[in-house]
Amino acid sequence: MDSVVRLSAVSAVYEGERTPALHNVSLSADRGQMVAIIGPNGAGKTTLLEVINGLLPITEGEVRVLGEQVTPGSHRLRRQIAYLPQDMFFPPATPFLARDVVLMGRFAGIGPFRAPHHKDRQLAMDALTSVGADALSRRPIGRLSGGQQRKVLLARVIARQPRLLLLDEPLTNLDPDAKGEISRLILSIHRQLGLTTLFVSHESGPLLVASERVVTVVAGRIVPDSVEEPLLVKAA
Ligand SMILES: Nc1ncnc2c1ncn2[C@@H]1O[C@H](COP(=O)(O)OP(=O)(O)OP(=O)(O)O)[C@@H](O)[C@H]1O
Ligand SMILES: [Mg+2]
Repeated sequence: MDSVVRLSAVSAVYEGERTPALHNVSLSADRGQMVAIIGPNGAGKTTLLEVINGLLPITEGEVRVLGEQVTPGSHRLRRQIAYLPQDMFFPPATPFLARDVVLMGRFAGIGPFRAPHHKDRQLAMDALTSVGADALSRRPIGRLSGGQQRKVLLARVIARQPRLLLLDEPLTNLDPDAKGEISRLILSIHRQLGLTTLFVSHESGPLLVASERVVTVVAGRIVPDSVEEPLLVKAA
């Protein structure tokens, strides 16, 4: 079976920059795997998720998701990917209710010019229920706390019904209880939907323990021999 994600000798350079943000990166993840990505600030972790999601064109190598080559134009393929960007936060004046934000997870699936069907609304409501955020459904998204917004964004992931989940620092700016709750939610989404999940995080905890592999990125490269089982698992 093809890997869900496969990067072969990928390099990527941001527009106007000389130095590649990623150099010769090779990485793969199979169906159902959870992979942690760690490394210092500016290492290229976000860039790595962006090339997998087709948001940043690559200059060398190849990125395949579900066996198909990914490019910024691969709209159909990109519908299979749910991406939670780093520092995603809705400011107070954002003119959407929480349930609208979840419904947006469906729009990628039904195309930009079609109104949502009853089924899409139902999936969005069910997703809010499954993250325990029913009560937030009619609240303006910008008036929710960071942790509540994160739950709504995870409901959006569920409503999207993706096959690949990319999470960029999903636990930052949360209190210890919320970190635990959001970690458990991510794990249950990962397992129940049979996803392949790549996440960037510096936190030890349930997500790291559940990861098959930890990949360390430094200065745009994957550190050789850094692809290993988490220490926490080894210690257990
Ligand atoms: N839009 C951009 N244009 C030019 N260079 C960029 C851009 N975004 C990131 N970079 C550069 O690419 C490199 C990798 O950045 P990236 O955001 O992937 O790091 P990161 O590992 O996610 O860091 P952090 O832990 O701070 O989130 C850095 O040198 C950064 O300055
Ligand atoms: Mg980053």
